[in-house]
Amino acid sequence: MEKFIIAPSILSASFANLEKELDEVYSLGCKVLHFDVMDGHFVKNISFGSHVLSTINQEHKLFNDVHLMVSDPKFWINDFVKAKADNITFHYEALKNNNLINELITYIRSFNIKCGISINPKTDVKVLLPFLDKIDLILLMSVEPGFGGQAFNEEIYKKIEVLQGFKSKSNYKFAIEVDGGVNLTNTKNLVKLGANILVYGSYIFNSKNKKDSINKLYEEVKDL
Ligand code: DX5
Ligand code: ZN
Repeated sequence: MEKFIIAPSILSASFANLEKELDEVYSLGCKVLHFDVMDGHFVKNISFGSHVLSTINQEHKLFNDVHLMVSDPKFWINDFVKAKADNITFHYEALKNNNLINELITYIRSFNIKCGISINPKTDVKVLLPFLDKIDLILLMSVEPGFGGQAFNEEIYKKIEVLQGFKSKSNYKFAIEVDGGVNLTNTKNLVKLGANILVYGSYIFNSKNKKDSINKLYEEVKDL
């Protein structure tokens, strides 16, 4: 798995120029697209459904990294599989039941796509221990889910260290993804600690010069 993968979150993109914004991040070397799906119930915001996923990213075929911030993740799996999700991440807090979580992981992976599980800032990383051997990706929220443009919560560094510790003592292969307030100031530390997929919403899509902003990120991690 690559040491540093940029995952632009389209939540912060201009929906009036979505295809143009996608062309731009694709041309700047991004290989993953992060889709922040919100149901207005699990989080107090509504974003978009699988229709957006199925209508965009047809040309570039970036890796579709779907982040379900929804109360009933199982209900949405088939829709997003049909819309060509390559990874589907759901929230631990939506189920909080290890049997249901194990069942959902098996169900998602039965479609031959990747499966991730996410925890909010207040959730103890230890709740994930029973799933480390079967999950492809752990998404650590460094903000309360629901909105882009929030301030980064540094508590996340300890969680990455705990997970990296388990990875180094075992042959677990899960990727560590971080989402929320990620920008130029925290990228180096996150990658150094072991996070290898970083979600950037406002840092990229509010940038006046995406090329410069993205190049600065690669510059930050080049010696790691
Ligand atoms: C929160 C969203 C945001 C988004 C990233 O629910 O998941 O974290 O992807 O937005 P920024 O990078 O602006 O925090
Ligand atoms: Zn997200």
